[in-house]
Amino acid sequence: MSNALEIHSLLRFLDQGRTPYHAIQQARTLLTEVGFTELDESRPWMLESAQSYFVVRGNASLFAFRTPARFSPDTRLHLIGAHTDSPTLRIKPNPSVFREGYQMLNVEVYGSPILSTWIDRDLSFGGQLVFRRKGERDLRTRLIESNTIIRIPSLAIHLQDAEKDGGKLNPQTQLMPILGLGGGDTYFRHLLESHLEPGEDLIDWDLQLFDTAKAALSGLSGEFVLSSRIDNLASVHAALRALQESPVHGTNLIGAVFFHNEEVGSTSWQGAESRFLPQVLDRIFSTFQASRDLYYAALNRSFFISADMAHAVHPAYEERHDPSHRPRINAGPVVKSNAGHRYATEAITSARFRELCRTANVDLQVFVSRNDVHCGSTIGPAIAAQIGIPTVDVGNPMLSMHSIREMAGTDDHDSIVRVFKTFFAQE
Ligand code: CO
Repeated sequence: MSNALEIHSLLRFLDQGRTPYHAIQQARTLLTEVGFTELDESRPWMLESAQSYFVVRGNASLFAFRTPARFSPDTRLHLIGAHTDSPTLRIKPNPSVFREGYQMLNVEVYGSPILSTWIDRDLSFGGQLVFRRKGERDLRTRLIESNTIIRIPSLAIHLQDAEKDGGKLNPQTQLMPILGLGGGDTYFRHLLESHLEPGEDLIDWDLQLFDTAKAALSGLSGEFVLSSRIDNLASVHAALRALQESPVHGTNLIGAVFFHNEEVGSTSWQGAESRFLPQVLDRIFSTFQASRDLYYAALNRSFFISADMAHAVHPAYEERHDPSHRPRINAGPVVKSNAGHRYATEAITSARFRELCRTANVDLQVFVSRNDVHCGSTIGPAIAAQIGIPTVDVGNPMLSMHSIREMAGTDDHDSIVRVFKTFFAQE
């Protein structure tokens, strides 16, 4: 039976992490609660040893770390990474579309959602507004979550034409949620402006849709979690929980990094392919007057766990998995590997993760995709290649990946939190 407190903390995190901006806001709160100090990336840093800090880029990526008591030739980095974004529908810059008396929102597909799962849901939208306060030089941002319900209606079965409607939805013409009947061109802008104060001018925004349904438990004894965004906020939550309870080390730097934009290939200002993590690590070492030589030597001895959800075998489609690699829900975290290096796992890094699981007394599973099924990817290969740090790709097994409502296991969540805690505790 899994730890009820841990699981309720996860459900809350999944519900509140409506968008990557909201997930980062929650991470900020959880870290501040246990004494981490926020650093401003645009100012010089004065860091102290044996202290805890975090830095946020673009309000959607975050790196939190505990500095060691001292840097030495024995220093290692113990890092865990995950992504904050999930597939969604993003509102286009000119959002209002009028058809047959309906006011609809024009949306763009972000990542690869299972589009059919977005139909007939009680949706809403949130994200960040960018505005200027009268007399100020710098732009400001505000996190918002609308309580307006919007919906993408299905076509009645009686009006469907098997030939025309049997296949996929057209993402341009058949995905616009209905905002209401009537209204004018400025209605949506006014809706956004209601989140601003007098003297604040709306300049731009980044908003995306989400399902208003709350996360829930199911199964014979609450063994399943059902929610939006399990991929990959469950991994973000596990890393945060482990970091919250981690110790400061004598010579090791420990940390967790969360990136936006994995679902669209990670190449952005704040993605895993960006300079965010290497720049921050470089700054940490240089503020402590640790040489570049020591930094590169430390990287080579360090370990990065890239955590992203994995595919559990589906009882109706078991043949889609390789016959001898069929992860099951609640049978433990999964090490993912791929001959084409779509995952960063190497024998040496997978061995390290196996030993961590053994120490934490947690069972482990392995995943390799079928040779005739396309293999996914994640942030691991980008980190291994860009930073030069030995990396393993792991994640908990789940069903319905990229559906608006996904499914994973409660015991697995407990297990991976235990493995991460063991990792952060290791000298
Ligand atoms: Co993912």
